[in-house]
Amino acid sequence: GGAAHVEDFDFSFEGPFGAYDTNQLQRGLQVYTEVCSACHGLKFVPLRTLADEGGPHMPEDQVRAYSERYEVFDAELDDFRPATPVDHFPVSALDTAPDLSLMAKKRAGFHGPYGLGINQFLKGIGGPEYIASLMVGYEEAPECAPEDFPGSYNKAFANGGIPDSCKDDHGHSMVEGSWISMAQPLYGDDVEYADGHSADLHHEAADVAAFLMWTAEPKMMARKQAGFAGVIFLTLLSVLLYLTNKRLWAPVK
Ligand code: HEM
Repeated sequence: GGAAHVEDFDFSFEGPFGAYDTNQLQRGLQVYTEVCSACHGLKFVPLRTLADEGGPHMPEDQVRAYSERYEVFDAELDDFRPATPVDHFPVSALDTAPDLSLMAKKRAGFHGPYGLGINQFLKGIGGPEYIASLMVGYEEAPECAPEDFPGSYNKAFANGGIPDSCKDDHGHSMVEGSWISMAQPLYGDDVEYADGHSADLHHEAADVAAFLMWTAEPKMMARKQAGFAGVIFLTLLSVLLYLTNKRLWAPVK
């Protein structure tokens, strides 16, 4: 693949004290449900976790009602039945559409420079930034491409096809991104948010990316809290050990 363009979106969950924004996760779920789920699945995500605090935190009755929009195969009934909160989201409806459960941790948005990973140290791995950039990355195909080249040109997508006519003499791509087999899924105002929030393309992209970060890392809040408690504990322990050490060696010195 060639170089791809990933924008650095500001997410609420960034940094040591960042947290998921419950309203944003619910809006992202709405985008996922009304647009992405037509093709993609979330097979590793139990529907009941939509009620989790630190996640979308939906009321139990809403989670039950939401679950019923999906059908799952029940081996005991030997038939399909409406899903309940103990089931998982369904698998991808379209064979070629990858499951999105872990996509936000599978892809990196930031790289380098020179393989050093300094960008990832400063800005994070960039999984959700990549997904949001992919959503806003569709553009008119560059001049160099033949009209009938398969797929849609996307400047954030690195691993797709690139027409030979867009490569230089050494076979290097002369365009940003590549051609993806997913047609542009979001244009802005694809959904109407219940909370009245703006549904322009940029917001929809950030919301669905935040939701997919939560599906990939549902315990992020608990992990950060445990990490913080750990740092406090180790700091106190260091102080105590220092004082103990002083006292133990005081008679000798
Ligand atoms: C691939 C997200 C809607 C079909 C992908 C990828 C992501 C994604 C992150 C992986 C890109 C990669 O490999 O790096 C989304 C989101 C959607 C959405 C957030 C809703 C807003 C759809 C819809 C369809 C679809 C509605 C079908 C009509 C596909 C296909 C691929 C794909 C076929 C594989 C593309 C390739 O490898 O060339 N999608 N998608 N997606 N998606 Fe979607």
